[in-house]
Amino acid sequence: MTAFELLRALAHDADVAILITDAMIERPGPTILYANLAFGRLVGRDPNDVVGQSPRFMQGKETRRETLDTFHRALAGGERFHGYLTNYRADGTKYRAEIDCRPLRAADGQIENFVSFEREVLRRIGRPAGSAAGRYEPTHESKDLLIGALRALAVFQHV
Ligand SMILES: Cc1cc2nc3c(=O)[nH]c(=O)nc-3n(C[C@H](O)[C@H](O)[C@H](O)COP(=O)(O)O)c2cc1C
Repeated sequence: MTAFELLRALAHDADVAILITDAMIERPGPTILYANLAFGRLVGRDPNDVVGQSPRFMQGKETRRETLDTFHRALAGGERFHGYLTNYRADGTKYRAEIDCRPLRAADGQIENFVSFEREVLRRIGRPAGSAAGRYEPTHESKDLLIGALRALAVFQHV
């Protein structure tokens, strides 16, 4: 079983939105190979309909180019990207997404896929920021078993 197959099996009805792409990061890639049900709810689409598209379909006017450049550099360097982006749902409404994206490597070290864990966050009001992570909080807490596993992997840093 590949990492992709394992993740896909675990991801299906998890609370957290999960997206798996191929490793082609330059346009028109990356291409979405799998999106779970929670991802469909997050973006207001049937998850099967986003397969074959690039994750860029969520971007719009207020998506910061600088953050996308940081994202691109991380992917090109085979590193993790953890950050916050303004994205848009199918109905045009915008939301703030926390994105934790990591490479999936084969045994020989070659990157085969990228996987991202995504959730909607809201800006905390009246709290000192401290860090980017301290500036946002998830819109809903998850009691999903997978969240425990993700916490152990330091996904989202604090879940
Ligand atoms: C697994 C994965 C998930 C991604 N999810 C998002 C996303 O939810 N929102 C977004 O704006 N970009 C997302 N991206 C980033 C874009 O696909 C793209 O890499 C980014 O726009 C930077 O590259 P560019 O400068 O070529 O556009 C994701 C990328 C990968 C590999």
